[in-house]
This record gives sequence, structure tokens and C-alpha cells, in this order.
Amino acid sequence: MSEKFYITTPIYYPSDNLHIGHAYCTTAADTIARFKRMTGYDVMFLTGTDEHGQKIEDIAKEKGMQPIEYVDGIVNNIQELWKLMNITNDDFIRTTQPRHVECVQKIFKKLYDQGDIYKDTYESWYCTPCESFWTDTQLTEDGNCPDCGRPVHRLKEESYFFRASKYADRLISYIDTHPEFIQPESRKNEMMNNFLLPGLEDLCVSRSSFKWGIPVPIEGEEDNVIYVWLDALSNYISALGYMSDDDSKFQKYWPANVQLVGKEIVRFHSITWPIMLMALDLPLPERVYGHGWLTLQGGKMSKSKGNVVDPVVLAERYGVDALRYFLMREAPLGSDLTFSNELLLSRINADLANDLGNLLSRTVAMIEKYFGGVIPGDLEPHNTDEVLKDSIEGLAADFEQKVDEFKISEGLERVWEYISAMNKYIDVTMPWALAKEADKKNRLASVMYHLAEGLRIVSVLVECVMPEAAVKIRAQLGMEKKELCSFESVRFYGGEIEGCKVQKGEPVFPRLDVEKELKELEALRKKALEHVPQKKEEKKAEQPAEISIDDFKKVQLKTAKVTACQNLKGSDKLLLLTVKVGDEERTIVSGIRESYSAEEMVGKTVIIAANLKPAKLRGQLSEGMVLAVGDNPNVKLLTVDAQDGLTVS
Ligand code: MSP
Repeated sequence: MSEKFYITTPIYYPSDNLHIGHAYCTTAADTIARFKRMTGYDVMFLTGTDEHGQKIEDIAKEKGMQPIEYVDGIVNNIQELWKLMNITNDDFIRTTQPRHVECVQKIFKKLYDQGDIYKDTYESWYCTPCESFWTDTQLTEDGNCPDCGRPVHRLKEESYFFRASKYADRLISYIDTHPEFIQPESRKNEMMNNFLLPGLEDLCVSRSSFKWGIPVPIEGEEDNVIYVWLDALSNYISALGYMSDDDSKFQKYWPANVQLVGKEIVRFHSITWPIMLMALDLPLPERVYGHGWLTLQGGKMSKSKGNVVDPVVLAERYGVDALRYFLMREAPLGSDLTFSNELLLSRINADLANDLGNLLSRTVAMIEKYFGGVIPGDLEPHNTDEVLKDSIEGLAADFEQKVDEFKISEGLERVWEYISAMNKYIDVTMPWALAKEADKKNRLASVMYHLAEGLRIVSVLVECVMPEAAVKIRAQLGMEKKELCSFESVRFYGGEIEGCKVQKGEPVFPRLDVEKELKELEALRKKALEHVPQKKEEKKAEQPAEISIDDFKKVQLKTAKVTACQNLKGSDKLLLLTVKVGDEERTIVSGIRESYSAEEMVGKTVIIAANLKPAKLRGQLSEGMVLAVGDNPNVKLLTVDAQDGLTVS
């Protein structure tokens, strides 16, 4: 029986159509799922939608629709998107499905019955116009509502709580003894240092301020709904039939082998979720992998900013495979990637149209021209063949290892090194010259054989990333026989491809006219923007009024050297800097943590507004403001190569 492999993506909010960031995560999971299937695993790949919560309730209300009506439409678009992108999920879980609702209620009830969920008074910040509770860390830097920016006040409410604190020590020692559990390593350190070690509070797991959720399954309490994260996280087991009449899938696939999530929700998946599982007495997933974000020059993608990249437009224009390849190749999975159309187009032209596409069409054309389209067999070996063979040595095993380590980009890089070696091999062997000499026929046959065999191996390796292109490449090479397409068949060089009949076809990756495409994409972006209603507070900023030089001189700008820096406790966004300004030492609170880590700040010489009135932010005195450009997570500090304490003039 084959070994099982269970992989999940986050379940996405259907508050709006998904953008390329969501497609990035699902494509990565799909690539891994496809690869695992190819290498013999019994794969279960799950994705879905997280449909409850106040935000969805509000949007539906604005549109004059019932929440379920609204989400049905968006979920349909999401499923179409996954179809378009050739996503091979084995199931699609919606948190509004009865199978999920029943499971979550059973989980809640079980935890309540065993005393891990209890009723208590909840006191937190409340925004009356938004009818929302906020924790300290969710408020804006000025302590206002993060949604509408208005003041909040303390409010007490009866709620249900989950005894997270009871399991904190067990989780800490679990993470300590399972170094592979949270990946990449940097995310593990972040979770330990910022959240677990400072101490965990019990988690409020019910809400009564909105209705769109799963009712608390306790008699007389049905007006409360279950907190969305408890609801959402349970999808990973509700989809497998946990606590249902048929839990065979749960028995077979749980625990998950990989739970792929964006870095901003690693916290829920590596703290809340494992603690829920511990309370349910279930094993924890093998790995939670926090991938990086796709951002744009101006910061994170957001519909209201009108800077969202639509995967449907790109996939339809350049082909699904080209888009999938770009997403998987351009940046390591753990890092952020600043998306741009230029990057996408140049990657497609360089790697796909030039390196791989040309290699294929040249090879097919030469086999047609010199051997009537049939891959020859009578070979005459030469040293140059050995060089090429050397570069393929261990390629399949390396690729497998890279994918297993989530280093898909490096795996592809390795394949492209081999593609370059093949292109060089053509330059060195000069088949067109060999073709002119009658006694070089067998030598020419060798060259053709190695090119065709190399392309076959490449096609099999890249299939998990570019499933359609892989098939098209093999169709042109006349290699559709099953035994030539398996992963096993490329572990060793020297496939039985003699006699395969090549067939010229359309270019698999047509070359793009970059200038023209850039213009057209920009026009499409502008057109899409016309349909985006701008939020009041995001309307174009007024041009600031002119000021005199004297006004400007009122601001004292100084150079300051960061001597120490730490994350500000109780905040996800703020750093607490200690800076030296000449003889003076100051503390400054700065909202740049999404762009700079505390460690990398130390030693930088920055420019600060030095005569700003000191203010308290999150209880910490801030004596100045660090100057920077851009929005998080792409803020860039204004640093100088000069000593501290100097006045900028
Ligand atoms: N519904 C929750 C997740 C619950 S999981 C039990 C949620 N949904 S979401 O719609 O906001 O999607 C979050 C996920 O989408 C991220 O964790 C990430 O995987 C992906 N991405 C969303 N925007 C992204 C980028 N800009 N870049 C990369 N991935 C992005 O949070």
C-alpha cells in the first residue's frame, strides 16, 4: 500500500474574488501534491473557503444580499479559478457545509464537556459603530478601531473561553523537540519569542455581536456564534470526516504532512491549532510551513487600493503553465516577492520561450531534417556526451529532495542548469556541420538522442509545475508511451526512445513582445480600477499646501544610530528602537516591523524628526520619528553613511 500524504492550504475568505497571492499559495500546494502523486504517494490535497464572520456579514448587507447568497457567487468564482489553474485538490471544504458545521459543533461540545471551554466575562476594546471587539494588538497605533479609525471603549461581555494556557508548556516542549514542525526556522523563532514564551492567554471562542457563524451548541446559548478561527481551523479535520459516521479518511490521512499557510497566519496554525488538537487528544501536523507574500511596489495587495493582480487575466493571456512556472521559480517559498509585470514577462521570455522552447523546437526540427522525424538509435559516443550526462547525474534525486524541502525554486533552477548545458551542447557539437559529413551520421544520431532524452527528462521533472506544457513537449517528441512519462523512468538516464516519431507543433511557449504587453497590462489595470469603489478614507490625498522655508526649518532632522532594538510587546507592527543622537540616548517606537526585523535595525544610522513632541505609543515613550518611504511591508528607511547627532539641512 502506498504511503499517504496529506497537504492543505488555508481556507480563503470569500469576501472578494481571489488575487494572485492566493493563487501563489494554492499553486505551491498543487505543485507539491502533484509531485508526491508522481512519486507514488497516496495524496490527499485539501483547499476551501472560510465563509463565516462579521466581515462577510457586513459585505452581504451592503449588497442587500443574504451572506450565503453572496459567498455562493464568490466561491463559484474561486472554484473556477482553481479549475483554470489546473489545481488538483481532492476535496473543497466550505465552512457553511453541514459536514463542517456538525463537526465544529461536536468539537466545541467535547471541549466544553471536558472543561477546556468555559464561560466567563470578556473585557476588551469595543467599537460601537462597527459592533466589533478588538484586542490591544489589533488596535491602530493611536489606539483606535482598525476598521474605521474611530475611538473604542472598554466593554464587558459574557463569552466562552478556550483554556489555551493549560497547554502552553506542552506546546513549547513539543516545538523544542520537533524542530521540523514550524518552518522555515525563522518563523519558529518568531512564534516562540513573540507569543509562546511571553505567556499565552485563554482564547475567547464565541461572539454575540454578529450572527453569521456556527451557533454555540449549548442549550439557550444559540445566539452566540463560534469564533471564526476555531470554526476555520477545524476544516482540516472536518473535511476528513472527523467525529462523523464515516471517519475512514480521517483515520487514513490525519495528521497532515504539510499545512501550507501565509506567514501572517503561522501564529494561528502553530499555536491555536496545535493546542486545539492537544485538547482533542489528536496528533499534530508534521509541518506548518509559512510562505512569504507576493507584494507590489506600493505595498501589500488590496482591492481597495486597486493594486490587485488578477491571476485570471495573466493565466488567460500567457498560459496557466507560464504563470505557475513564474510563481514557483521567481522566489524561494519562504521569502516575499515583489511582483511586477516586467519580472513576469522577462522570466517567461528568458526561461520558457528562449531556453526551453527554442531547445525543443530546434531539436524537433533537426530530428525531422536529418532523420526523417524518427529518433535514431545507432549511436557513436563522444566526450562531449559525457559532459552532458555528468550534468544530469542525480538531477531527478536532487529535484525530489528540493521539492521535499519546499525549495521548488531551487529545484527548477537545477533543471534549468541542465537546459543550459543542452543548449551549450548544441553549440559545441554543431549538428549542422556534422550533417554535412556522411561519415558523421552516427555521431549526429548521438547528439539527437541526447537532446531528445534530455528534453524527456526535463518534461517529466517540470510536470508538477507545468502539467500542460509537459504533455505538449512529449507530444512533440513522440514520447507519449506511459513508460516514458513516469518519474521512475527519469531516475536513470538512457530511456528507450529510439524509434519515437517527433512531430513539430505550435511553439509551447511563444515569445512575448514585452513593450507591447506592458502597455496592454497597464491599460487593463486602469480599466479594472474604474470599477473599484474607493473607500472614503483612501480617496486621493489632497496636495499639501505650499510652505515657506521657515516652516520647513521648524522640523529638526537629525542623524541617529540604532544601538538596540526589540519588538514592542503587545504589538505585531511596532519596533522599539534605542538610538544615539550625539550625546543623547532616546527611545523611538516605529511601525516598520513588517518591513524590518529588530536584529537588522541595530547598527543602522537613520534620519529622525528630532523635535516632535514625545508621545506614548502602547505605553512606551516615543521621542522622535524615523523617516522612511513606502508602505509596509516594503518600507525603506532613509539611512545615511554619516555619524549620529548631525543636523540635516
Ligand atoms: N480564512 C483565513 C485562513 C483560515 S485557515 C484555517 C485567511 N484567509 S485569506 O483569504 O486572508 O487568505 C489567507 C492566505 O492567502 C494567506 O495565508 C496566504 O496563504 C494567501 N495570501 C493572501 N494574500 C497573499 C499575498 N499577497 N501573497 C501571498 N499569499 C497570500 O486568512
